[in-house]
Amino acid sequence: MSDKIELSIDEANRLIEKYGSPLYVYDEEILREHCREVRGLLSYDRFVPNYSAKANSNIELLKIIHSEGFTVDAMSPGEIRIELAAGFDPQEILFVSNNITYDEMDMATKLGVRISLDSLMQLKMFGERHRGGEAAVRINPGIGDGGNDKIITGGHSKFGIPIEQIDKLLEIASDYDLRIIGINQHIGSLFFDTEHYVDSCRKLLKEAHRFRDLRFLDFGGGFGIPYRYRHPEERPDLHEIGERMDELIEGFMEDYGRKLMVKVEPGRYIVGECCQLLGTVTSTKQSYGEKYVGTDIGFNVLMRPVLYDSYHYMVTYNHEEKEETVNIVGNICESGDILARNRSLPKLHIGDVIGVRDAGAYGYSMSSNYNARLRPAEVLINRKEGTERLIRRRETYEDLLSTMRL
Ligand code: LLP
Repeated sequence: MSDKIELSIDEANRLIEKYGSPLYVYDEEILREHCREVRGLLSYDRFVPNYSAKANSNIELLKIIHSEGFTVDAMSPGEIRIELAAGFDPQEILFVSNNITYDEMDMATKLGVRISLDSLMQLKMFGERHRGGEAAVRINPGIGDGGNDKIITGGHSKFGIPIEQIDKLLEIASDYDLRIIGINQHIGSLFFDTEHYVDSCRKLLKEAHRFRDLRFLDFGGGFGIPYRYRHPEERPDLHEIGERMDELIEGFMEDYGRKLMVKVEPGRYIVGECCQLLGTVTSTKQSYGEKYVGTDIGFNVLMRPVLYDSYHYMVTYNHEEKEETVNIVGNICESGDILARNRSLPKLHIGDVIGVRDAGAYGYSMSSNYNARLRPAEVLINRKEGTERLIRRRETYEDLLSTMRL
């Protein structure tokens, strides 16, 4: 099976005709394949992968990921609510929090959801409210890696408690009789190199010995996917990562004296490639020597190219063979609203359907109503069962007005 969702010209056109444009289309079998690959990362017997739902929190996709044996992380009370609605038990959710309020801590705790605290002050705040309670902490191991500066989190960033503050951390925990039952880290997103991830695991394990009440260790996500698939970026070598981690973990557990649960926390690797975002060409224009192909995929629908200069492979669903170099742009009132620059693609005409590959992670989840545009629909196909269903309806103008009609 392909690593990425493939659509035929007829299929892409039919889907747009039936569900409207733009449209996120997911392939269930490919999603499950990626789940299974990550599930097999470690041979350590207390390994449970933790899906990072910020990548995509559609309830139907969460149900599938849950059924593949994953637990889940949350970044906000909203994600917790969606995950509970998808059928996760509170104990299967880890709230990897950042700068949360007392109320948010209380809400998660009341629901039975574990929180990982992101600073000494947040640990103190938790202690004030839940003296004698249990919490996890996020450690920043001082090693970072990732696709660009905005998504590297280890080292200089706002995340986690630096290793050199662990003495103080343990002091606060003891002041409030807190049991630190988990440690997590996440060094960044979209990395391809094995070295930094494994080094950060080694570093975290060295510190983990100082925590005597642990039940789990969570090494974070970040595994990259080959967005430029025709010029393959290498995937991170999960096999190598797994082997090296297994060795470190077995050694650690022997010294620690107990077998802890071990997690990793990928989002993109699970959902990125099973999805294509389909859209429609609305206009074309020649301006100052460049050709612009206007589409209905503004950056309210897919923000990654504008925010990170990310590359997404573009597919055209027409029968043209002659290629030309174009900029594919959206319909948002900003010059930066460019989906793809200088791409050589078969000539596009008004009404043609285009596809953006690898849109499943941080696609819909980062979409917005900017320019009062409506967010698109999402469809899930399962080729084995020959089914196709709407898993999120397109927004309506009523939805847009609903929060202001008081
Ligand atoms: N765990 C934590 C604590 C995280 O902060 C993240 C991502 C993950 C896990 C999952 O990382 P992944 O395996 O998906 O790389 N919007 C950006 C990515 C931001 C990632 C934020 N944190 C993008 O579109 O590339």
